[in-house]
Amino acid sequence: MNLLAIETSCDETSAAVLDGPSSILSNIVLSQDEIHAPYGGVVPELASRHHLESITWVVEEALGQSRLSLPQVDLLAVTQGPGLIGSLLVGLSFAKGLAYYFRRPLLGIDHLEAHIQAAALEKGAVDYPALAAVVSGGHTSVYFLERELEYRLLGRTRDDAAGEALDKVAKFLGLGYPGGPVIEKLAAGGDPRAFPFSSPQMSDRSLDFSFSGLKTAALRWVREEALTADHPRLPDFLASLEQAVARIILENIERAVFLYHPRTLLLAGGVARNRRLRLAFESFAREQGLGFFIPSPKLCTDNAGMVGALAWKRFERQGGPELDLGMNAYPRFIVPTEQLRRKKAR
Ligand code: KG4
Ligand code: ZN
Repeated sequence: MNLLAIETSCDETSAAVLDGPSSILSNIVLSQDEIHAPYGGVVPELASRHHLESITWVVEEALGQSRLSLPQVDLLAVTQGPGLIGSLLVGLSFAKGLAYYFRRPLLGIDHLEAHIQAAALEKGAVDYPALAAVVSGGHTSVYFLERELEYRLLGRTRDDAAGEALDKVAKFLGLGYPGGPVIEKLAAGGDPRAFPFSSPQMSDRSLDFSFSGLKTAALRWVREEALTADHPRLPDFLASLEQAVARIILENIERAVFLYHPRTLLLAGGVARNRRLRLAFESFAREQGLGFFIPSPKLCTDNAGMVGALAWKRFERQGGPELDLGMNAYPRFIVPTEQLRRKKAR
C-alpha cells in the first residue's frame, strides 16, 4: 500500500509518500521562513498564498522521489487542524480533490497527534503508557497515552507557546525569524546561570503551561541591560532563556510523571530541535529510569512524514473512512480524538 500525506497547517508546505507505517519514501518540506522573516512572524495571508503556489510542485516532488505516480497512491492523509485556517484549507482542498478524482480514502489528521507520532516513528515499538510533550511555535501541550493512538490531553499553554516566546524575544532583539534556531546558535558558549528567570506558578496546580511571564521577564532584561544583537552578554542571556524554557517544560513533565507513571517519555515539535532541551529531557528520563525518544531534528519541525505515519496507524486500526467530501478544517486546538470518542460512548 502507498500513502500520500499532505501538511500545510502553518508555514511549511509538505508532502510525503509512505509504503509502511515507518517507511517514508519521500518527505518534501518547503519552508516559507524567508517569506515571513521580514515580519518577525508568520503572516497568515502570505502563508496561504504560498501554499497555494507551491502545493502542486511539492506533491509532484514527493511522488517523483518515491518513483510513484498518482494512480499508484492507495490512501490519502491531510492535516485537518489545528493551524492557520487559510493554510489548512489549501492542503485539505488539494487532498480532497485528489481523493475525489481517484476515489481513494482520505484521512483527516490532527497536527499535534502527528507530532507525537514522529517521536514513535523512528523509535519503532514504544513501551506504553507514555507521556508526550509537544513543544512548538503554536502549541505546548502534554499528553498521556495509555496505549498507542490513545491521546489524553493533560495540559496545554494558557498563553504563548514555548516557540512563540522564543520567536517574540528574537523579534524584539532583531535577530530574525524563526527565533528558536537563531537563539540556539547565539547562545552557544553562553552561561545559562547568568540571568535568573522564575517558573510560572499555576494556582490550580494543573499541568498547563504558561510562557508569557517568561517572555515579559526576558523583554525586561533586554531593556534593563540594554541588550542588543551584538552585546557581549547576549550569549549568556540567550543561554539563560533557553535553560528557563527547558526547565519549565521539564518541571511539568516531572509532575506528570509523578501523577501518571508512564514507562516512556516522548518529546516532539519544532522546539524539540533545541539541544539544551533535548539534553535536559534525556538526562531527566535517564534519572527516572524511563524509556525516552525525541525525533531526529528534521522530523521535529512540521513535515508530512509524521502525518502519514499517524494516518497509516489509524488506517491499520480503523480501516479507511468513506470518502467524506464534507470534511472541514479546524483552526483551533480540539480535544484529542480518543477523548471525543470516549465522551460520545458515555
Ligand atoms: O513544530 P513547528 O515546526 O511549527 C509549529 O507547529 O508551530 O515549530 C516551529 C517552532 C518555532 O517557534 C521555532 O522558533 C522553534 O520551533 N524552533 C526552535 C528550534 N528550531 C525551531 N526552538 C528552539 N531551538 C531550535 N533549534
Ligand atoms: Zn507543528
